Amino acid sequence: MSVHVAEQSGDKKQKMTVLDFKKFKEEGRKFTYVTAYDYTIASIVNESDTEVILVGDSLGMIMLGYDGTTAVTMEDMIHHIKPVVKGAPDTFIVGDLPFGSYHESIEQAIHNAVRLYKETGCDCVKLEGGVEMADTIRAIVKAGVPVMGHIGLTPQTAGSLGGFKVQGGTPERAAQLIEDAKTLEEAGVFSMVLECVPKGVAKALTAEVNVPVLGIGAGPYVDCQVLVLQDMLDMYSDFKPKFVKHFAHIRGAMVDGLNQFHEETLNGEFPSKEYCFNATVEGYEIDK
Ligand code: KIV
Repeated sequence: MSVHVAEQSGDKKQKMTVLDFKKFKEEGRKFTYVTAYDYTIASIVNESDTEVILVGDSLGMIMLGYDGTTAVTMEDMIHHIKPVVKGAPDTFIVGDLPFGSYHESIEQAIHNAVRLYKETGCDCVKLEGGVEMADTIRAIVKAGVPVMGHIGLTPQTAGSLGGFKVQGGTPERAAQLIEDAKTLEEAGVFSMVLECVPKGVAKALTAEVNVPVLGIGAGPYVDCQVLVLQDMLDMYSDFKPKFVKHFAHIRGAMVDGLNQFHEETLNGEFPSKEYCFNATVEGYEIDK
């Protein structure tokens, strides 16, 4: 049985702030970061020790059944971030800027970052890209919206990267990734996601920046581990990336529960007396 950190110390869970990210890095304190796209799941994550929630555009696949993330819109993101903010008041919430919402111009990027932050109440926005995004990040930060970067495998532009593949696999590409990370830090991100990178490259990159590196498929030498909740709890079954460990088997438990409901309905075991309103109404008495 796992012991919650908050329970152990007797303290209530403390919501992280943007400043805590740097503090955690300085103190070498690890933390975890998972996705949520709705109120119920957000409230479950809020009850756990998890420090950060991402309302990622991966909701395109996980919640909407799309093949990828590129079709996700600002309206989709706003629709899903709002209930997560409501369900997880003690957890830092990241809102993903969807593909096309920050690529046209710096003005468009500021407009959509401010909109997402203001309309949903999330704690920061996240956007994908390396050195080419530096000016955009600088402008959004200057407008007052905290930005989390995302480099390595960037799902929104996975097509141009040749698909969902490991990044930084040659010395030149590894050096470019480290350059991306340093440029993002200089542009003002307070943390950055690093996705699908060999662990040695991730280790070197993590040592080169002063903001936390949040790794997904990037090995153990990063500052924080990220996973899509529906992957790590074995709920989403279309695809399982190599880096995903199943920490519970919720899909199987749900199918079992549904089958038990079906069986008990068919054999009359459900609903038994305890699940009925048993008041007797004249003219409507029941024999048994
Ligand atoms: O949208 C998402 O879930 C992400 C994670 C893969 C980090 O960006």
